[in-house]
Amino acid sequence: MNILGVDIGGSGIKGALVDVTQGTLTVERHRIPTPQPSLPQSVAETVDEIARHFSWQGPIGCTFPAVVKRGVTLSAANVDDAWIGTDGATLLSQTTNCPVVLLNDADAAGIAEMTFGVGKGQSGLVIMLTFGTGIGSAVFVDGVLVPNTEFGHMQIRNKDAEHRASARIRKEEGLSWKKWGKRVNEFLGHMEVLFSPDLFIIGGGVSKRHEKYFPYLKTQAEVVPAQMLNEAGIIGAAMAAREVSS
Ligand code: BGC
Repeated sequence: MNILGVDIGGSGIKGALVDVTQGTLTVERHRIPTPQPSLPQSVAETVDEIARHFSWQGPIGCTFPAVVKRGVTLSAANVDDAWIGTDGATLLSQTTNCPVVLLNDADAAGIAEMTFGVGKGQSGLVIMLTFGTGIGSAVFVDGVLVPNTEFGHMQIRNKDAEHRASARIRKEEGLSWKKWGKRVNEFLGHMEVLFSPDLFIIGGGVSKRHEKYFPYLKTQAEVVPAQMLNEAGIIGAAMAAREVSS
């Protein structure tokens, strides 16, 4: 069964048709730069452009890089503040003329990773973290998502964790893998004190360079790289839309 999955990010909006029973893309993904400023209406029009690119009519699963409750976006760390309090799901549905399910980007990536990736069959407490422009988090208890955790905003040395340890900060500050790895380790250590997870899954683009910084991660819980890389958000979004469309 195919569903359109769209991943809304601060710099790009990417979509593809997803076979939600296999967890794979059935077409090449289409990417459009995120409009700047990333106002709700302009972003909605870009999502519509992606739907039209695939001549899609049907449910759309859409990720968003912020807290999303019942379709309403409640924060906006790396997108325009105009999103705070916007009924994003309704706006996107009206603009695309398709039913839209909106959910947090890390939650979507986690859903895909727990179903088809490295988290498959993992019981206990699993924390998935995505390192990109910000740091996203998704928590699973025996495979069930606890949505909208925002661990990237945990305070470490009086700063949001994502302002010390995101992938963007590594590049911007020109940090060595060792230095950045130690920052990530400090962040995981804080989470370990609070949650005692059984497993950490590290996602985002940097997960494919895991051998560079995993040696500096010294948690008690096992740490593994995500398997689904850039496609996890799109796949997880489509899976969430399938849940409500069936
Ligand atoms: C946002 C999260 C999001 C993460 C990754 C953070 O700044 O607050 O909601 O999951 O970035 O995009």
